[in-house]
Amino acid sequence: MKILVTGGAGFIGSALVRYLIANTEHEVINVDKLTYAGNLASLSAVANNRRYTFSKTDICDQTLISDLLEKQRPNVIMHLAAESHVDRSIDGPGQFIQTNIIGTYTLLTCAHKYWAETLAKDPTFRFLHISTDEVYGSLSESDDPFSESTPYDPRSPYSASKASSDHLVNAWHHTYGLPTLMTNCSNNYGPYHFPEKLIPLTILNALAGKKLPVYGKGENIRDWLHVEDHVAALYKVVCRGKVGESYNIGGGNEIKNIDIVKLICTYMDELYPEKTFGSHLSLIEFVKDRPGHDFRYAIDHTKITRELGWSPSWRFEDGLRATIDWYIENQSWWQAILDKTYQGQRLGLDRK
Ligand code: NAD
Ligand code: DAU
Repeated sequence: MKILVTGGAGFIGSALVRYLIANTEHEVINVDKLTYAGNLASLSAVANNRRYTFSKTDICDQTLISDLLEKQRPNVIMHLAAESHVDRSIDGPGQFIQTNIIGTYTLLTCAHKYWAETLAKDPTFRFLHISTDEVYGSLSESDDPFSESTPYDPRSPYSASKASSDHLVNAWHHTYGLPTLMTNCSNNYGPYHFPEKLIPLTILNALAGKKLPVYGKGENIRDWLHVEDHVAALYKVVCRGKVGESYNIGGGNEIKNIDIVKLICTYMDELYPEKTFGSHLSLIEFVKDRPGHDFRYAIDHTKITRELGWSPSWRFEDGLRATIDWYIENQSWWQAILDKTYQGQRLGLDRK
């Protein structure tokens, strides 16, 4: 089988490409524009594999995408390319509309033409759209977790753009019969995570003895999923999921932001007890809240567990410690980002 992955140089996409090359016999074509978030260094383990191909291409470019599909003739498209950071969507929503909505529309248009004409509507073709739990909105502490039937209620420019793309994917299935599938997952963590997100930012700041910014009171809750568990779920969905269906993927690890930051500090104290500033806990700084900050996300993953036999394997504290160890052992990966692309500055304050 030939699998075309969009966004394969990003955090989750690169984990998926590494997983597919290591655990399957499929050929993998990685289509990525290499924005600030795309990083070929995350793919060094597969770069020379004969089953791996990279194409630096923007998913908004209809001609290039159509040509690529005709030339490569994939059996499966796994669509991860997106602008993914909520704070950046507050500062500049335009690129989110462009890539997440127009880009998904362009990819669907090209995929539909390719499937209908070149593949003569081959019923085994699959288009898997990777989305987020943020499309469901925000939960209170007592609400039930999101299920696949929770109504959409996106509240940030990022989640609104992802919700739009989800609706487009469903429209292409219902109107044109394109064999689509969709997944909505919770917050991923693990190696190769770009350091603008909570966990890698906190790890790198703690390593440098810098302040650890916690938005608001740190009471907001996310449901953390190890990226390796996530990509294993995506492969199950693409192989065995029911066409037209969506699947929620979550780690079963609901935790307040402040408790995550404290866990990182506690582990860093064990690893580096001799710091001049004392405990890493003294670096925690409560800062102005994110505008429109969703309070809680939580995923009910009963459906994918029952129907496809997937469940998360990482215990959060073990995964977090392994992630911290990975950042300590892979300084060259993140130092290159700090030198060139992102220096840990606060994003998403809506200064207009
Ligand atoms: P990321 O920001 O790390 O990577 C995105 C990748 O897409 C980058 O390699 C980037 O270069 C590429 N890209 C961006 N615009 C492009 C374009 N126009 N054409 C081609 N490539 C382009 O994102 P991620 O965290 O790996 O997320 C991957 C997908 O999973 C996204 O669709 C995101 O919405 C979704 N998701 C992420 C999380 C999470 O916790 N990270 C959770 C739920 C859903
Ligand atoms: O829920 C899935 C989503 O998870 C994905 O769709 C997004 O692509 C992904 O970026 C992530 O979004 P979040 O906004 O939840 O992730 P982030 O790491 O930016 O923030 C996690 C929580 O931590 C959130 O409540 C905001 C808070 N935070 C974040 C940063 C960067 C802080 O308190 N301090 C920080 O410095």
